[in-house]
Amino acid sequence: MTYEKDMPILVFDSGVGGISVLKELVKVLPHENFIFFGDSKNSPYGTKSIKEIQKLTINNIKHFFNLGIKGLVIACNTATSASIIEVRRQFPSLAIVGIEPAIKPAVAAFPNGRILIMGTPITITGKNLKELIDLYKGDSTLIPLACPGLMEYVEHNKTNTYEFKEFLTNLLKPYIENPVDAFVTGCTHYPFIRKEIQNTLKNNPVFFDGANGTSRALKRLLSSRNLLRENGKGNIEFLSSDTSEEKIALCKNLFEKDI
Ligand code: DGL
Repeated sequence: MTYEKDMPILVFDSGVGGISVLKELVKVLPHENFIFFGDSKNSPYGTKSIKEIQKLTINNIKHFFNLGIKGLVIACNTATSASIIEVRRQFPSLAIVGIEPAIKPAVAAFPNGRILIMGTPITITGKNLKELIDLYKGDSTLIPLACPGLMEYVEHNKTNTYEFKEFLTNLLKPYIENPVDAFVTGCTHYPFIRKEIQNTLKNNPVFFDGANGTSRALKRLLSSRNLLRENGKGNIEFLSSDTSEEKIALCKNLFEKDI
């Protein structure tokens, strides 16, 4: 396989959440062409088995790999946790980066602090997260919190509902009573509800997400392979396995939304 600078980079997520990563990618790599693909028809991934997630992830990537891409961003903590080793094995020559919860910068900012790590059940119970915690924990108190059902509010554009407010209040109740200094959004859907999480937690904790680290990692990787596109305006294409007009409109709206 030969890769060329003008080829697009695939930004893959189980749904619309990866757009929070795409927003950072275009800031760090403004000349690149991106294809965003969300597998919304099959979301959520975070409550599926590892085998199922691997199968869906590989099949989706294969489709775009055969069309021609020079790089891949797995803009999904769940798919990264469940399948990045397998993805690297199946596409050995492709420039690949995944996303992981931004524990390192959170602990650097709050070395003795209480830090909430929010993610899907697969990410929170995964081996990768355990390794990250062991590596960076130091004197901080890291609190992993599985949030099944949370990404759906972003995915189905229901973050303005009373039901969502109630869901978040129930989920975060222990940390309203016993506050945290910071929270890590270990799911790419959650940066879109950062303000709601902060408002629910009341004490305005600082939030950390992995999009910037992932974008810089991709830049380094492409540069080391002489595949960086250095001029011209990049193009972005939004695609989803849910081909409804509403879903594509939601992708575009989220891309414009301030985080
Ligand atoms: N955006 C995905 C993540 O970062 C959502 C997971 C899901 O589909 O449950 O984990």
